[in-house]
Amino acid sequence: MTRDWYGWHDDYEDPGSALSRRLAEVRLRVGQALDAAPPGPLRAISLCAGQGRDLIPVLAAHARRDDVTVRLVEMDPRNAEVARSAARTAGLSSVEVVVGDAARTDAYADLVPADLVLVCGVFGNVSEADIRATVRHCAALCATGGTVCWTRHRRSPDLVPTICGWFAAEGFAPVAVSSPADGVGVGVHRFLGEPRPLPTGVTMFEFVD
Ligand SMILES: C[S@@+](CC[C@H](N)C(=O)[O-])C[C@H]1O[C@@H](n2cnc3c(N)ncnc32)[C@H](O)[C@@H]1O
Repeated sequence: MTRDWYGWHDDYEDPGSALSRRLAEVRLRVGQALDAAPPGPLRAISLCAGQGRDLIPVLAAHARRDDVTVRLVEMDPRNAEVARSAARTAGLSSVEVVVGDAARTDAYADLVPADLVLVCGVFGNVSEADIRATVRHCAALCATGGTVCWTRHRRSPDLVPTICGWFAAEGFAPVAVSSPADGVGVGVHRFLGEPRPLPTGVTMFEFVD
């Protein structure tokens, strides 16, 4: 990792930044996914979770907060500590923050299929082939009826329509996809299929500089 992924989060401090607008949209969608989730225990995973800003505050304020077992996987220990501290402050005892490689399927083996899968800030940093592979793995990470929330910038080449096609091919239905005019590129897909087994020892993607 050559990029400063801790400093990357600074843009969140500017409420007018594109990143803050994206965060607001993701939080809205996470809340809606929790609203729509079936009763009983729930599971959520976040790949490359950063500081957990999309999930932790929403969960903290949600009626289902104590129903959800959460795993955030993040490579940068500084970001992981911010997420861990936020979860602790919010009294969320079922949030686990793992410092490790979120691309490895093994990171989720005991927690899938999950009702909520966050893949935010990933598809803009990996190759097209890796996006395709990750979408395929979403059909193993996500439970039937579960939600995948993902992001991708809308700069040229705008891959969002292609990514939506890949989700459709894997048995997902679109719930919401931001329009190019929004500029933030947030997608939400619900899984209608039967989750396939998650393969062990597979690397789903690799960040490129
Ligand atoms: C663009 S940021 C997105 C953070 C967060 N999901 C968000 O949207 O606020 C990408 C994050 O992925 C982390 N990261 C990069 N490669 C990773 C990997 N292989 N495994 C886990 N985390 C990784 C970085 O440290 C960084 O925090």
